Amino acid sequence: MKRHPRPTTDTSAAARDLIADLRRSLPSGALLDDPELLATYETDITGRYSGSAAAVARPSDAEQVSTAVAACAETGVPLVVQGGNTGLVGGSVPQDGELVLSLARLDWIGPVDGDANQLDVGAGATLEAVQKAAAAAGLRLPIDHAARSAATIGGMVATDAGGALALRHGTMRRRVVGLETVLADGSVVSRMAGLLKDNAGYDVPAIVIGSEGTLGAITAARLQLEPSAPFQITALFGVPDLRGALDLLRALRQVPGLEAADFLDAPCMELVCDRKRLRDPLPSPWGVYVVAQCAATADVTADLATQAESLPGPSDVVAATDTEGRKRLWAYRELLNETLRGEGVPLKFDVGLPLAAIPTFDEAIRARLASSYPDARLYIYGHVGDGNLHVNVLDVDPEDEGVDELVLRCAAEHGGTISAEHGIGLAKRRYLALCRSAADIRAMRSIKSALDPAGTFAPGRVLPDPDEEGI
Ligand code: MLT
Ligand code: ZN
Repeated sequence: MKRHPRPTTDTSAAARDLIADLRRSLPSGALLDDPELLATYETDITGRYSGSAAAVARPSDAEQVSTAVAACAETGVPLVVQGGNTGLVGGSVPQDGELVLSLARLDWIGPVDGDANQLDVGAGATLEAVQKAAAAAGLRLPIDHAARSAATIGGMVATDAGGALALRHGTMRRRVVGLETVLADGSVVSRMAGLLKDNAGYDVPAIVIGSEGTLGAITAARLQLEPSAPFQITALFGVPDLRGALDLLRALRQVPGLEAADFLDAPCMELVCDRKRLRDPLPSPWGVYVVAQCAATADVTADLATQAESLPGPSDVVAATDTEGRKRLWAYRELLNETLRGEGVPLKFDVGLPLAAIPTFDEAIRARLASSYPDARLYIYGHVGDGNLHVNVLDVDPEDEGVDELVLRCAAEHGGTISAEHGIGLAKRRYLALCRSAADIRAMRSIKSALDPAGTFAPGRVLPDPDEEGI
């Protein structure tokens, strides 16, 4: 079920006990239960997922988080952890009177450790604030996406977020060298030393990263920064199709410092230019546009030009090396999520594919959607360099699960994953078995029941109901 009617259960006895308990144990102002104030926590950014919360707890340190988690465990009211509420799979939207544990107030940012190039931050610090702190120390947090001003580090670690720079710098997991987590019994596991070599026992943080708030509440992370690159160039290419994009990618891999290769299809370019009043980036239209970026120690413009000229098929390119010019080129790609939201409730997917399968997946998905949903509008963009395609479908009933199954099945049939970077959440749990074996899902269940036996954290997310495993 995708949409949930507004509150019925928030007056249950257990919820009342929880609220009374939290009123006693948290500082005043750290608990919201006025329905009007809850509303923004109860619906996701796309409008596709909504539910009801018993209340919202807004702790400002790990001890208060632990208090809130322990109170939930005691009263039997489940909780859902929320950061910037920018998720796209309904994972942090409360269901049926859960407590929302908002970690937005854990937004502290520590000083940069200049010996190790590492930085401690609270879970509620936004990506943008941390990027700025790193830049102020002459360093860089090389992970990025368009929701940077609202998305929090805690949420990004919890979902193992990816973004445009994963091609070279990996996903969030690769940035995390320390983690503090509150477990279901309220205990705190703190591994914040930032040791690059530390194999003492099981790697608990590694299991928590990417678990989407189902195993614990991440309260702080220690992040590995990188030296900033003195030279950056962004280039927007036009190529005929996705096969042309893969030829381009092969050539761009020869350019030192390649760190991003995103793309958008022609309907995306038309829509974003129209709705955001942007000028066409190239003199004539192309089937596919690729936005590539290199960050290097020296000027690589000539290398880029040489590789662009070596392409087997036709292409065109415009490039910029100054910050404003580079931002302008990224805008065509980065404004898409917001632009599509302006068109209605989009059905959003983030499938991951082997690179060689991208063109055939693209052809198959277009044909299958056109035949089953002739009125649907389809927009495909994403991160071609790492095989992560964002399939966006508009003008279909958001309650209709048929589109989800069609897209996710198509990805699995092409050797891919149903979730590259957005997570499983509520949206895709029914389909997990399309890309994970029964043994794999059993192992996940064992981890969940070992760390959260009472199901306090985000029940019904990530793992399918046992009777749904066969899909
Ligand atoms: C992006 O790459 O823009 C994000 O993953 C969000 C989206 O899918 O629109
Ligand atoms: Zn993305």
